[in-house]
Amino acid sequence: MKNILDAPFVREMCETTANMYRLGWDERNGGNISYLLDEKEVDEYLDTGKVLRSIPLMGVNEVDFDASPLEGKIFIVTGTGKYFKNVEKDPETNLGIVRIGKGGKNVELLWGYRGGGRPTSEFPAHMMSHMARLQVDPENRVVMHSHPTHTLAMNYVHELNEKKFTHTLWEMSTECIVVFPEGVGVLPWMLCGTKTIGEATAEKMKKFRLVVWALHGIYGAGKTMDETFGLIETVEKAAQIYMLTAHLPRVNTIKDEDMVKLAELFGIDYRKDFLDL
Ligand code: 13P
Ligand code: ZN
Repeated sequence: MKNILDAPFVREMCETTANMYRLGWDERNGGNISYLLDEKEVDEYLDTGKVLRSIPLMGVNEVDFDASPLEGKIFIVTGTGKYFKNVEKDPETNLGIVRIGKGGKNVELLWGYRGGGRPTSEFPAHMMSHMARLQVDPENRVVMHSHPTHTLAMNYVHELNEKKFTHTLWEMSTECIVVFPEGVGVLPWMLCGTKTIGEATAEKMKKFRLVVWALHGIYGAGKTMDETFGLIETVEKAAQIYMLTAHLPRVNTIKDEDMVKLAELFGIDYRKDFLDL
């Protein structure tokens, strides 16, 4: 059996959480990541027949929560209350590898959460987002939640309207419409850690890989850790430029006609109704 601490998926979780922490996106225990793993790859590192303990899900009513499409699937997930700052130096305490139990109402711990930890309190929202994204893109693997500073700041001064929010982000950097052509979904402030916010996020995830949780943070989804991180990173950079310029007179801007040219050059399908042409 290979050493789990050398597994590429553990390394990716360590590197990504460390980057997110150093970028100031994930203070204290802010943020969480879940990463759907390939069972055969996990088998090289763990005896998947050995369950350390069974953990009920937080924040959901067992009777009406159904995540059966994910039954038997294995995820590596950040622990609730754990600090991204500490993942790299102690992955076994701050991360866990779990298999989704019957109906998705509990998880079987295969590795990690040393000292009694459990998956992020947002795991129901992650599971529902995985289910929604897998329907649209069977290769989706990662769901990531974060509190990036400028994205959050923008929530306080910009209208929380999907079209307007996306349009402003697209205007802030030439690359934006290419990186997230489908735009950014926006949810109003909602109570986090609940099935309700999970359902609302998953509904948005049918159309978007990025969903802003107003006055809280952002969710991203993608095929790889790089894709997902890159999506949030690009939104955050655009939001930073917006926050650096929002109070100044706007002299120049990327025009909608220019965005069309970009989309055509890269051959991407974008939300045409998010432009004002
Ligand atoms: P967890 O510590 O449960 O992952 O929660 C962090 C967070 O960002 C909640 O939205
Ligand atoms: Zn959060």
